[in-house]
Amino acid sequence: MNGFEISAGWINLAYVVAAILFINGLKGLTHPRTAVRGNLTSAWGMLLAIVATLIDGGLAYQWILLGAVIGGLIGGIAAARVQMTQMPEMVALFNGFGGGASVLVAGAAFIIAVEPNAQTTVSTGLSGLIGAVTLTGSLIAFGKLAEILPGGQIGFPGMKVFNALVGLGALGCVGWLTVDPTAQIAYWIIVAAACILGITLTLPIGGADMPVVISLLNSYSGLAAAATGFVLMNNVLIIAGSLVGASGIILTRIMCKAMNRSLANVLFGSLGPTADGPSADDVYGGRVKATSPDEVAMLFDTAQRVLVVPGYGLAVAQAQHIVREMGNVLEARGINVEYGIHPVAGRMPGHMNVLLAEADVPYEKLREMDDINTEIEQIDVCMVIGANDVVNPVARTDPQSPIAGMPIIDVDKARTVVVVKRSLSPGFAGIPNPLFAADNTLMMFGDGKKAITELVTALKES
Ligand code: TAP
Repeated sequence: MNGFEISAGWINLAYVVAAILFINGLKGLTHPRTAVRGNLTSAWGMLLAIVATLIDGGLAYQWILLGAVIGGLIGGIAAARVQMTQMPEMVALFNGFGGGASVLVAGAAFIIAVEPNAQTTVSTGLSGLIGAVTLTGSLIAFGKLAEILPGGQIGFPGMKVFNALVGLGALGCVGWLTVDPTAQIAYWIIVAAACILGITLTLPIGGADMPVVISLLNSYSGLAAAATGFVLMNNVLIIAGSLVGASGIILTRIMCKAMNRSLANVLFGSLGPTADGPSADDVYGGRVKATSPDEVAMLFDTAQRVLVVPGYGLAVAQAQHIVREMGNVLEARGINVEYGIHPVAGRMPGHMNVLLAEADVPYEKLREMDDINTEIEQIDVCMVIGANDVVNPVARTDPQSPIAGMPIIDVDKARTVVVVKRSLSPGFAGIPNPLFAADNTLMMFGDGKKAITELVTALKES
């Protein structure tokens, strides 16, 4: 065995250890209690993979160091400054840059390859195709979420045919590259076509469906990285890319299921009020009962079980800390307080879990939708704070509704429901919510943080 073989063996061993750390890290991420440790485990795995890769090649370290410092600074500052509600935008940008990096790395490796074989050409072509779609698709998703671009569906007649032709053309160029590896122009045609495709595939998707699209693009960024791994013959890149690709697609599926929509419907369909759906006047007309913090405080005099159902508005209002304080005050009175978590409440997976964890709400107090629904009739007071679609009973009762069949937390079956939001405006799906006009519902209008602060004051005074 010569020195080089030993060195290659050690490098691959380091990659295997890194892969084990990634998988263990992912396992840790499946539970809030182990999530921080899981994140750190994966980060150590990534550090090991980077160090092994650097040792492996006769590389220009000064450039790598410069890139790492600049990239690390930008990433660190962005992560420290981002608001929780802007997290999907940030993830979109990071996915896009991941796709762009795959395009450049695979392209550069292909250009300097001495005798590219079929594996190199096919994987280079696929890396360029998937990476460029991820790059421009993610930039459009970012633009829509950040409201730089209009959030609605944007398109032109024949867009689907156009997309099909561009996609087929790009695949044809992958074939061309495979047959003639000297035709480097084919690679750049693939990249250009895929850049257009990323834009035209993402523009027609409504801004509100962007979290699902971002999860899908996250999966694509992993696939592009895995393809680049085959270009470079770098095992850890293949493994890490495949893990990202697989977990992204699993998450996309979970989100679609929780919204009762197929991926095809998200990508090619539309979500929103139908022309013949009931108007807000039909649903609310004269039936909504407004209440005040003092009145709500009195409701708790006889309550034994309270369920808090948070939604996107809790994140907007940043009311998690005061909600926790409300929980403490109620528990001090001997009331059992729990939190009902809908899988797609908010705007990103686990949004409510993260917010409540930030306020140190004990994890045992969080109840999943299916679990709490079986006991919802025993809840004395259900506090719906900034949630709307995820508690809209039309999903259960109106087969014509755009959210028909979406699983919801059945808060309307609780004894009394208090809804905290600023107005009667609709949520993400843009449809009225008959819960607000139900006999057992009281509306406490106001910003979530302000309203709950007033309620806590009233509770302490009563
Ligand atoms: P939404 O249905 O979007 O409703 C949020 C409500 O919060 C709004 O009606 C708004 O009413 C209220 N609100 C906004 N700012 C507030 C503030 N400062 N204080 C108090 N209330 C405030 O939210 P949801 O019930 O969480 O449902 C999530 C929706 O997003 C679902 O339709 C889901 O399908 C969709 N979605 C989620 C995900 C993930 S992964 N979470 C992914 C894709 C789509 P006012 O303006 O009247 O205050």
